[in-house]
Amino acid sequence: MSFTKQIHILFFLWLATTATLTVGQGTRVGFYSTSCPRAETIVQATVKSHFQSDATVAPGLLRMHFHDCFVQGCDASILIDGPSTEKTAPPNLLLRGYEVIDDAKTQLEAACPGVVSCADIIALAARDSVVLTTGRVWQVPTGRKDGRVSLASETSNLPGFTDSVDVQKQKFAAKGLNAQDLVTLVGGHTIGTSACQFFSYRLYNYSNTGAPDPAINPAFLPQLQSLCPQNGDGSKRIALDTGSVGKFDTSFFTNLGNGRGILESDQKLWTDASTKTYVQRYLGLRGLLGLAFDVEFGKAMVKMSNIELKTGTNGEIRKVCSKIN
Ligand SMILES: *[C@@H]1O[C@H](CO)[C@@H](O)[C@H](O)[C@H]1NC(C)=O
Repeated sequence: MSFTKQIHILFFLWLATTATLTVGQGTRVGFYSTSCPRAETIVQATVKSHFQSDATVAPGLLRMHFHDCFVQGCDASILIDGPSTEKTAPPNLLLRGYEVIDDAKTQLEAACPGVVSCADIIALAARDSVVLTTGRVWQVPTGRKDGRVSLASETSNLPGFTDSVDVQKQKFAAKGLNAQDLVTLVGGHTIGTSACQFFSYRLYNYSNTGAPDPAINPAFLPQLQSLCPQNGDGSKRIALDTGSVGKFDTSFFTNLGNGRGILESDQKLWTDASTKTYVQRYLGLRGLLGLAFDVEFGKAMVKMSNIELKTGTNGEIRKVCSKIN
């Protein structure tokens, strides 16, 4: 084969690969490097300044990205205001961090008008939140478009706190995510909190048994009962990773292994064999091939951040994140 011919073949292979990446994935690391070089720095500085006055924006922004991606893909549909949009649905009522996204968007519109999507701001802010809570950094592919559809009725896709492992796995599988992704992404609860109203049913009369959920460690139960008294304030927030809520680490998984999971859906990851293995691997338990949670978390986040991306006329770069153009 002649040298020129080889070059041609290489060139066409390269074209084919590039085309696949553009059509198939739709995002790439450094998408704004020429169109808005300061985009990632602006988002990072904004998240940091809000985090310094209120650290709860970190889990808030992480959860926002997850809730955005599971409904209509990662397209900032979660941010749209209106009478029956996603943000009005029960699973989203306690979402936090909208003001951080709006603040970043205002600065980005001043720096590079009409260039950076709200969906990308959410994806970047979620990463920056993990880093601010001592998690490991990962590169976020960007280039998402913002969607034009946001319906409260579609939020039933979201996993719920009473879901069985099978249901959780089905909901993740519907988005192209496997059992490992499920365990890994739920591991983000390492920095999360929950209101008592979402788990106090486990503490007193679980499933009308007249007794607490037997999956709760008996030594841990009195602590939870005093934090969330029967008929107490249901809106009071409790750490999902007892003893280590501010730090992005594997302590959440250790707690699951000790019957100290807060949400029923979290604790079940330890009861079900298909997910327990991953929890054990993150804990480096003897006899199992270890997995580095901080590394896998970044990978699972990238995978999740590419769910059902908008292309062509299904997408736009919103001028204001809370409304379509
Ligand atoms: C638990 O709830 C059931 C159904 O509401 C009720 O009949 C039962 O008396 C309760 N048990 C206790 C110990 O409160």
